Amino acid sequence: MRRIFLIGYMGSGKTTLGKAFAKAAGLEFIDLDWYIEERLHKTISKIFAEQGESGFREVERKLLHEAGDFEDVLIACGGGTPCFFDNMDYMNQAGDTVFLDVSPEVLFRRLKIAKTKRPLLAGKSDQELMAFIIGGLEKRLPFYSRARYCLSGERLESRSQIDESVRLLS
Ligand code: S3P
Repeated sequence: MRRIFLIGYMGSGKTTLGKAFAKAAGLEFIDLDWYIEERLHKTISKIFAEQGESGFREVERKLLHEAGDFEDVLIACGGGTPCFFDNMDYMNQAGDTVFLDVSPEVLFRRLKIAKTKRPLLAGKSDQELMAFIIGGLEKRLPFYSRARYCLSGERLESRSQIDESVRLLS
């Protein structure tokens, strides 16, 4: 039985690499954000708007455990998942944790064009976005670094780069 938790900052490529790896390894793929949206019939932005971040984190914790009951699965977590409650302990005990490491510059490039769906980033100017990424990484790295494995997520822009990362993760 294999259970993998893929963690890392927003824009680190958890969904992209997670999907490709799960397919190659014959694992079920669960994106925790999508799972939450499906279970609650609401977008992440709506949950943040209605329940605030703390309400979202409660839901996220509960559904992390629910998704973590699956076997032979790869779960791509939200960027904040490892940093709340005892989620990191839980994941390390329930399966293998993999941290997808990406520099602030690359995260900025990716997030600049993909911030609308992410309530924590919506409406930020370029300067605010860069400061948010740097500050966020500083706070979150102590959690991310507790993962069992670490892999660079810098090069995930093309099919061949994704395939190469899948090979490294295997
Ligand atoms: C968040 C990351 C998002 C989502 C939510 C909060 C975060 O997931 O869970 O918007 O706190 O970093 P992605 O990392 O998949 O964007």
